[in-house]
Amino acid sequence: MIIYDSYDQKKKIPIVAHRGASYYAPEHTAAAFDLAVEMGADIIEFDIQMSKDGQLIVIHDSTVDRTTDGQGRIQDMTLAQLKKLDAGSWFNSRFGNEKILTLKEVIKQYGKKVKFLIEIKDPSLNVGIEKRLIHFFNTLLSNGYSIDSFIVQSFDYTILQQLKKAIPSLTTGLLVNLQTQLTKKRLSEWSTVVNYINPHYLTVNQDIVNLIHNAKLKIMPWVVNNKEIALYLNDYQIDGIITNKPNLLATISSDP
Ligand code: G3P
Ligand code: CA
Repeated sequence: MIIYDSYDQKKKIPIVAHRGASYYAPEHTAAAFDLAVEMGADIIEFDIQMSKDGQLIVIHDSTVDRTTDGQGRIQDMTLAQLKKLDAGSWFNSRFGNEKILTLKEVIKQYGKKVKFLIEIKDPSLNVGIEKRLIHFFNTLLSNGYSIDSFIVQSFDYTILQQLKKAIPSLTTGLLVNLQTQLTKKRLSEWSTVVNYINPHYLTVNQDIVNLIHNAKLKIMPWVVNNKEIALYLNDYQIDGIITNKPNLLATISSDP
């Protein structure tokens, strides 16, 4: 159990492990997700792209170049090709056995331990990803999973509209970069489709949080890796903190 030192346990906000515990282990790998769970994360955030053979792949970039020992675009590679890559050594040689994961593998492995914040990456590079994801959710639901375990977010509003139309009970979040995007009128429109507005933390102040809450929306800023910043954001009554360090607010630091 994590003990927090600066605020009431009853007010504990959800900790969202961004790409897993990606400050300490290679992002989007089992090592990063295991550590996130161990550090007490409530939610794991990850990104999805689609492979050449239509598999939902857990990875941030549109290519494998930065986070594996391979090269090439995800959309040009099959799952079998992706699985051959080393997804950990770029971070540290001790992670040389880490593999690229599929969405299915992540949900199966961690579904009983945490909730998930799933980000759909650029739909123009991942044509048809929303149909795959809708099918995936429908299969999960028919296998007894709860829709409450998932939040799907994207910078792309249209894809969130499509998902919400197909699965009205799905919780959705719109990612935003600019404070100027956040007007009362726009938030009111967005609130018919999304449940969260997730801005870059540098754009967040008390007025922005109030504006979002007044539109009956929630807010989880990203990516906060500094404890003092996390604590002042918490004072604004945000609804979750997206961080590479899931132990950010732990009194007893568990830095490996
Ligand atoms: O959860 C928000 C954050 O993940 C958005 O940025 O580039 O890390 O996917 P990025
Ligand atoms: Ca992301």
